[in-house]
Amino acid sequence: MAKLGFIEWLALGRVIASGSLIRTDDGARECVRFESELARWAGVDHALAVSSGTAGLVCALQACGIGPGDEVLVPAYTWMGSAGAVLLAGAVPVLVEVDETLTIDPEDMRAKITPHTRAVMPVHMINRPCDMDSILTIARTHGLRVIEDACQAIGVRYRGQLCGTMGDVGVFSFNSYKNMTSGEGGAVLTRDPQIMERMTNAHDLGISYRGQTLGNSPVFLGANYRISELQGAILRVQLRKLPKTLRRMRRRTEIIAKALRAAGHPLTPANDPAAPLSVALTFETEEEAKAFSQRPGARRLFDNSKHVYTEWRPILDRRMAHPRVDPWAWAEIAPDRVIDDCPRTLDLLRRTCAVNLKMRAPEPVAKVLARQLAT
Ligand SMILES: Cc1ncc(COP(=O)(O)O)c(C=O)c1O
Repeated sequence: MAKLGFIEWLALGRVIASGSLIRTDDGARECVRFESELARWAGVDHALAVSSGTAGLVCALQACGIGPGDEVLVPAYTWMGSAGAVLLAGAVPVLVEVDETLTIDPEDMRAKITPHTRAVMPVHMINRPCDMDSILTIARTHGLRVIEDACQAIGVRYRGQLCGTMGDVGVFSFNSYKNMTSGEGGAVLTRDPQIMERMTNAHDLGISYRGQTLGNSPVFLGANYRISELQGAILRVQLRKLPKTLRRMRRRTEIIAKALRAAGHPLTPANDPAAPLSVALTFETEEEAKAFSQRPGARRLFDNSKHVYTEWRPILDRRMAHPRVDPWAWAEIAPDRVIDDCPRTLDLLRRTCAVNLKMRAPEPVAKVLARQLAT
């Protein structure tokens, strides 16, 4: 979705000319500067660049001490990586229905809490925020960590607050489909210095190019989820462009929503009506949604492959890389309750279409396309 161009090309040239592509802790270098710029932009104390959104989620879970035996509440409508990261951390994802806003249903979330629930992962899907007030209240009452999966929603706000800055940790993805991109990549944000230290450890083997410490604790074994200076350089440019990208997205959202509303189409409700940077329509019937999805630029959410839990093959089949790595066996919850049916989510996804914002088109063209789509 984000545009790449000459400035990114120049930034890459600068890194190549430096002769050193690997990240270090030197404050003059691209990754470190990107992290402080991202933290400043988001108004949080700490940001860490990682190799993907999935890697960021794994680091966040490990940093929060979540592992075997633990349950993490995950919405049934999200990219498979959200639930997959929980399993990679050794815990189990417990599925929660989404409500008509397409984000995790706080009431079903409350109903799925058990003595083993340690965290909730609200996912701000398709640039639409979750009901964070309710989620944070429930999480506080039950002592749950909140790991916000804001992979699809960098720059989106919920009642004025940026997605990714309201929970214990926020996670972004910078893969090619996101609001800003370095092809692949991600970042984690937190205000908690201890969580930050543990995420830093988790993303860099625990030995590090980064001179990290864990206070008085010895470092633990992490993976290598570092990004390179090349990605750091691109991301610095992309972050500078982000406000403009978001303005364009907002304008396109308004244009398309206005045309669809005028034609009497049923727009999907949002937790903060001013927030969404996407357009979705929830119809009365599956047939209406199927018919609308045939229009150019429209797609039905149910047809969106691994964003629907019924398509998460390895998870449904309980298949990890090795049979003895089996988070389901380490958990108290019965395996068939982990991927419990979420019929309400499936029904909503069958009846809901999202619309392409036509970001490349100039505004007058976008207006014409919006009217064509609506009629
Ligand atoms: C909601 C959500 N969570 C997690 C991820 C994982 O991000 P990545 O592809 O960077 O690993 C994605 C990526 O598409 C996503 O959309």
